[in-house]
Amino acid sequence: MGYDIEFFKKRLKELLDEKRFKHSIGVMETAMHLAIKYGADVEKAQVAGLLHDCAKSYSDDDLLKLAKKYRIELDEILIHAPFLLHGPIGAHLVEEIFGIKDQEIKRAIALHTTGDVNMSLLDEAVFLADYIEPNRDFKGVEELRRLAEENLDLALLKSFDSTICYVLERGLLLYEKTVKARNHILLKLGSGGK
Ligand SMILES: [Fe+2]
Ligand SMILES: [Fe+2]
Repeated sequence: MGYDIEFFKKRLKELLDEKRFKHSIGVMETAMHLAIKYGADVEKAQVAGLLHDCAKSYSDDDLLKLAKKYRIELDEILIHAPFLLHGPIGAHLVEEIFGIKDQEIKRAIALHTTGDVNMSLLDEAVFLADYIEPNRDFKGVEELRRLAEENLDLALLKSFDSTICYVLERGLLLYEKTVKARNHILLKLGSGGK
């Protein structure tokens, strides 16, 4: 399709701080790698990976205002944890700021924070890349990177499990989409009743 990646990078740099910009480049490269490995559209993975956090710098108040503007349905959890909205809002901003209308790219960006059931290969590549890109440093990341080279579904399952554990350990609100996404993969792997 011929997206102008260099222009996107320049514009993105104005929206994010240095650390998040570096993270975005890491997600772009890792998403492309996973797309090649598992057969997703590489160019879409590049664009979605690069721009997935384009709404990350907004304050909670601004995210809630933007959700209203874009008519994103809010529930109690989103109102109390507005950072979850940076995915769905990012999906609108990529069209408004970067002129991207591609629904698959927009969906991968929308889902990158929470996950969802029935994720496409592109959605999965971007979600996992966000978790394991080279700048990420947390306990278990090496294991996840290794798993990502072997089995996409297992790596995703581990990512969801680790997100859910993180949320529970800190007493934060657990978003049901993430739970559904986790159960969906477990059932897909055929080990739901173990
Ligand atoms: Fe994000
Ligand atoms: Fe991210």
